[in-house]
Amino acid sequence: MTPLPKFSVIETDFDTVLDCDGQIVILMPGDAKLDAVARRINKATKGALGRFLGSKDFDDLALGKVLSLAYPTGLNAKSVAVAKINGNASVADARSCGVEIAKTAKCENILLAGGKFKRIADLVEGMAMRNYEYLDQKTNTKPKPLDVRVMVQELENQAAAIDLKMAVVDGVFFTRDLINAPANVLTTTTFAKQLSALSKLGITVEVLDEPALEKLGMRTLLCVGQGSDSPSKVVVMQWNGGGDGAPFAFVGKGVVFDTGGISLKPAAGMEDMTMDMGGAGVVAGAMKALALRKAKANVVGVVGLVENMPSGNAVRPGDVVKSMKGDTVEVINTDAEGRLVLADILWYTQERFAPTGMINLATLTGAIIVGLGHEMAGVFSNNDQLCKQFINSADAEGEGAWRMPLAPAYDKMLKSRIADMKNVGSRAAGSITAGQFLQRFVKQDMPWAHLDIAGVASIASESAFSPKGATGWGVRALNRMIADHYEPQEEATGE
Ligand code: BES
Ligand code: MN
Ligand code: ZN
Repeated sequence: MTPLPKFSVIETDFDTVLDCDGQIVILMPGDAKLDAVARRINKATKGALGRFLGSKDFDDLALGKVLSLAYPTGLNAKSVAVAKINGNASVADARSCGVEIAKTAKCENILLAGGKFKRIADLVEGMAMRNYEYLDQKTNTKPKPLDVRVMVQELENQAAAIDLKMAVVDGVFFTRDLINAPANVLTTTTFAKQLSALSKLGITVEVLDEPALEKLGMRTLLCVGQGSDSPSKVVVMQWNGGGDGAPFAFVGKGVVFDTGGISLKPAAGMEDMTMDMGGAGVVAGAMKALALRKAKANVVGVVGLVENMPSGNAVRPGDVVKSMKGDTVEVINTDAEGRLVLADILWYTQERFAPTGMINLATLTGAIIVGLGHEMAGVFSNNDQLCKQFINSADAEGEGAWRMPLAPAYDKMLKSRIADMKNVGSRAAGSITAGQFLQRFVKQDMPWAHLDIAGVASIASESAFSPKGATGWGVRALNRMIADHYEPQEEATGE
């Protein structure tokens, strides 16, 4: 488990600055106006800070970027990092400045002189999000999370704001660890165990095993896992922080490894399919975040955990399977397995919980990467209001999301000669036909959105908030959507 960085909020105090033997970080506006701490540092360094701030180097430094002065005379610190940021910086600016601070940190021990900066919690969130490295499989390398003392005004307010951010970052790290884990480590069984452990946080967790799924008639889900030695499972996580009403539902594709099955994938890059449980990983992280911050909402997370392997027992192209809903599916391509998993858990979620709305997440199609690359997830929805709620939340969190169409003309592409439908269309509009397939398992009036996260769940180069590998995309957007639209809104406190 990757440890979280630590942030403790303290009073502003000059001696603490002079004594700090780690890295001091100060926030400096573009006009280089010194606050009290900066003036004190300038004095201690016999004007070195001032000379830097008057230099072309500082002038050339872009807003949001960081430059550090090493082993300054007159201070105990290893370095003083100057982050250039104006007092009126936006939330997004503050967050990405925090990312820069974490990226350029010279040691774990950091004293962040926040001064009067208002968006300190957003800046801290950026630092925390970037201070992640997956080292669980390295033998002799231990993670060294940042240990940050934050000097701020309005101690209590800022401490509470930071705690709230860190609850969500905790969820993000959980998601990243799950997605980064190799498939021999994160099997359907160990995945279910990790989810069961969420019960410590007050989440009610149930694990449905193969006999239970068989009884429910989840044949489209089960057919995906039938070639694997790892047993298929469905895990149901309920967070009931909001009284008696029906819950909102998150549903996730959890293919712990996707070989393609009998429709085997090519060898090159197949190792990436260890992230094919990304949808389930994001659902798990979002549930954890909601529980940690004790969200006043009812939310249920349902994930389908399977492994898609070829074997003598695997489902074949041409097989016809019956879904829990009752519709039959001709499996043309065993590599279009995610939709088979989701079909049954979407149906199960609606039958059991009659949720107020439902969002599913899945690393569903390579085609969404062709369309949107690694910047944005595809959003498919039957409901404009829900769709806007989600996309606005994603925008606010800096997580890219872009609406894609659904339409009956695409649905026609799923017509099967012998069954109620087939599981793939043609090559054209691959992500949309996948969405159409899912929509067949969504009830008429159920507000629903499908997020195709194949391009954003895990990335080969670093992204805005994370190093290479799993990003945790979606945890913060889902958390915000629940906070902004499915929880009682706090009265403005009018200061
Ligand atoms: N898990 C893959 C989609 C994927 C591709 C995720 C690349 C992440 C990165 C999915 O199960 C799959 O194989 N989809 C097929 C569908 C096709 C057979 C209709 C695809 O996209 O090629
Ligand atoms: Mn596949
Ligand atoms: Zn897949």
